[in-house]
Amino acid sequence: MLAGKRVVLGVTGGVAAYKAVEVCRRLVDAGAHVIPVLTEGATRFVGEVTFSALASEPAQTSLWHERDPIPHTRLGQSADVIVVAPATARVIAAYAHGLSDDLLTATLLATRAPVVVAPAMHTEMWEHPAVQDNLAVLAGRGVHIVDPEEGRLAGGDVGAGRLAAPEAVVAAVVAAVAVPDLAGLSVLVTAGGTREPIDPVRFIGNRSSGKQGHALADEAVARGAKVTLVTAADRPVAGGVDVVPVTTAAEMEHAVLARSDAADVVVMAAAVADFRPVTPAPDKLKKSDGVPAITLEATTDILVALAGRKPPGQTLVGFAAETSEVRASPPTS
Ligand SMILES: Cc1cc2nc3c(=O)[nH]c(=O)nc-3n(C[C@H](O)[C@H](O)[C@H](O)COP(=O)(O)O)c2cc1C
Repeated sequence: MLAGKRVVLGVTGGVAAYKAVEVCRRLVDAGAHVIPVLTEGATRFVGEVTFSALASEPAQTSLWHERDPIPHTRLGQSADVIVVAPATARVIAAYAHGLSDDLLTATLLATRAPVVVAPAMHTEMWEHPAVQDNLAVLAGRGVHIVDPEEGRLAGGDVGAGRLAAPEAVVAAVVAAVAVPDLAGLSVLVTAGGTREPIDPVRFIGNRSSGKQGHALADEAVARGAKVTLVTAADRPVAGGVDVVPVTTAAEMEHAVLARSDAADVVVMAAAVADFRPVTPAPDKLKKSDGVPAITLEATTDILVALAGRKPPGQTLVGFAAETSEVRASPPTS
């Protein structure tokens, strides 16, 4: 997804700096040429050796470099995209106000490449008007902001300000450099494995992770499509995707059929149960009552239902998992 792209990865001084190691690894896995730039603050939280070992070039930490007299312009001019993850309140303020007192902030001013900023800080800092105003300035200049999540923060606090998941940061980088060749198209994607209740605590499920459907949604939104993801998987997805969470095959059927007519492309990457218990028990089945006899019934084949009502011009894509060898059908004229 990022093959051949030069990505400057800015890392700043917050506890979430350790998560930037994972962002670095994922960028490299996506084919990017990654150049880490660490602030002095970042080096208090993570070692530059770790980034040098994982990235495509050694990590850089200083404007004053013997072998490279003007490192910030070389980095800024040659970058296809710059991502700062995590971004401290300080670096966000410096960037918004045009300050350039270290290698990272100087590089941010010396580029015309797209920039992605993923803030991370304590809730009080995140909600401070100074931080929000600075982010609004950056967003107004076209900087891509990856909002932090709510969750556990350093010191045991819980609230908004936790760095977005590495997958979401990488998805924003992909979106920032993508060519919008799907602009104007409406894409509906399904993902994950449905769960059919046996009783309130047990279900029949399958091994689908939802990775493929979420990756397809990420890619489609990065390429400019309007994307709806009907998903049974609890995993991150790129900003801008309209997410419809579902659990059972019946919920997925209802959510998909309510939206499919308006879609130009429907990609059924979900693993939808073929069978479900006819009558889920209202209370937990007790072991002491013996092995239950569970009667199953077929679920609706959503792909067949979609094919039966496919509007002209719609592209419908289905997947099927097989455990035995499947021979390709001979071509028909
Ligand atoms: C333990 C500790 C954790 C910190 N975590 C954060 C943080 O998550 N976000 C933030 O904006 N600042 C955080 N700070 C404050 C920054 O480290 C400080 O503002 C520093 O000057 C940032 O430097 P930099 O932006 O050059 O990396 C933390 C400081 C300490 C001591």
